[in-house]
Amino acid sequence: MAEVIIASDADAAGERAADEIAQLLRTKPDAVLGVATGSTPLTTWRALAARGLDLSRMQGFALDEYVGIEPGHPQSYRTVIDREVVATLGLERGQIHVPDPHGPLQSAADDYERAIVESGGVDLQILGIGSTGHLAFNEPGSSLASLTRVTMLAERTRRDNARFFDSIDDVPAHAITQGIGTILRARRLILLAFGEGKADAVAGAVEGPLTSSLPGSAIQLHPRVTVIVDEAAASRLARADYYRAAHENRPY
Ligand code: GLP
Repeated sequence: MAEVIIASDADAAGERAADEIAQLLRTKPDAVLGVATGSTPLTTWRALAARGLDLSRMQGFALDEYVGIEPGHPQSYRTVIDREVVATLGLERGQIHVPDPHGPLQSAADDYERAIVESGGVDLQILGIGSTGHLAFNEPGSSLASLTRVTMLAERTRRDNARFFDSIDDVPAHAITQGIGTILRARRLILLAFGEGKADAVAGAVEGPLTSSLPGSAIQLHPRVTVIVDEAAASRLARADYYRAAHENRPY
């Protein structure tokens, strides 16, 4: 069963996730970190930056990248990663890899999958979750064994992400994304989610049946998962009191 931590807010959750990353990097300075885009991990990057660790030997792999927007677009995930992760943590740009959506797509996807394997594999994957239950851009219906490939975004995801663009029509329809099978190969997963809008997806991922209809439920197949949520995102967890008791090491 996933360890579920219900934090007071996104800042406290970010501190907690940063603790885990910092602990990994102290024991393995050349660790490979799986990097999620989206707004959810921002408090984690800020908290990690504040630790002042030497991050010069780590490398990272982003989960996904939009297809169909020009290089340097402010919402391309390469640009978002440069702004939110590389700059915040004081890294070299080349330390974090992002799929290349500007050439032949399936070979870019295959190259990316291979690069992850050749790096030695992801030690710790930071994940967000979409309101559709997606992980990266693996929308409902994605094979739980899928590898890096081109996918089509769900309409709800495009609506959710329209806040970053001028209009929903500007949100790309496709992406290159790590597959669920790719994500499950990481040695450890930390899934973060905040706000009421994620409550159903979190409940489905943690407590629902294992189903490709809710790709986040694939975390149930992984032996080492920590889910860190705020109260609102935890609000539809049937076993919330049990998780709180387990976390505080008291009987339930
Ligand atoms: C995005 C990304 C995911 C991210 C999720 C949640 O579209 N493809 O990797 O985890 O949706 O985004 P946010 O953290 O902004 O809510």
